[in-house]
Amino acid sequence: MRIRVLGSAAGGGFPQWNCGCPNCRGVRAGTIRATPRRQESIAVRSDGTGWFLLNTSPEIREQIESFPGLHPQAPRHSPIQAIVLTNGDLDHTLGLLSLRESHPLVVYATERMRRGFTEGNVLYRTLQRFPGQVTWRALSLGSESELAGVDGKGSGLWIEAVPVPGKLPIHLESQGVGDPEDNIGLRIREAATGRRLAYFPAAGGLTPMVGKALDDADCVFFDGTFWSGDELPAQGLGTKRADDMAHLPVGGPGGSLAALHGLRASRRIYIHVNNTNPLLREDSPERKEAEAAGWEIAGDGMEVSL
Ligand code: MLT
Ligand code: MN
Ligand code: ZN
Repeated sequence: MRIRVLGSAAGGGFPQWNCGCPNCRGVRAGTIRATPRRQESIAVRSDGTGWFLLNTSPEIREQIESFPGLHPQAPRHSPIQAIVLTNGDLDHTLGLLSLRESHPLVVYATERMRRGFTEGNVLYRTLQRFPGQVTWRALSLGSESELAGVDGKGSGLWIEAVPVPGKLPIHLESQGVGDPEDNIGLRIREAATGRRLAYFPAAGGLTPMVGKALDDADCVFFDGTFWSGDELPAQGLGTKRADDMAHLPVGGPGGSLAALHGLRASRRIYIHVNNTNPLLREDSPERKEAEAAGWEIAGDGMEVSL
């Protein structure tokens, strides 16, 4: 299995357009040891097939251009076989609207995510330019199915959606109560090698099911949004704490670094890193602590071969 990180930052990216926090100012000025990052999305493939995108960020156009593996091989063509969504947040879904140039798309999502994106969304009409422009394939929780592209041909990658504590996208919060289908992690198994990827970019907490998916995996990507629960209020950036946003912090006694210390995965990678997070500074004590525990911090362009 080959994995390419297209974007590693949380919603807003790094730096974020309206943010003057020390990290965002420092990376703009070149005064801190940190690299800009686009919003989270990765591409995955097995041998001999095209790429599957996990999430489509608002920066999808630059992300495709930044990686020759995603460039067209014919006058009208894309190596992108399908897109898989892990929740309906705009940093994961807005890119779909940018892929509107009359190309058939296959999108894997839970039924809740599909409805959240398509219902009452006048802009979705841009993806209804011809019959069959978007084929939605339903992910049901806890069952494994083989990923396939537009032609329906199997990819050799088998996927299972795992419910993860999370929340509704902010723009849907007023519309109802949450549901296990609102936020998922993905287990992806390559049939030929048996290698497993666990992709959990947004996790408000750990459950036995999440724990099992992470324990099984050869490579884990996990929610690295915040180092600490009060990271935003402590920097004068509003009142929301990490748990209000359903992101388990990395640091501290209850954090994911402590909770996930026993994982056997040879690659353990934090992704969806918020611009305020000290992990972004290559020489910070927090970064050293995570690295000493065997974790990497995703960067754009990073590749993993499993
Ligand atoms: C999140 O990950 O919590 C969301 O992307 C936040 C947002 O939509 O701004
Ligand atoms: Mn996000
Ligand atoms: Zn910032």
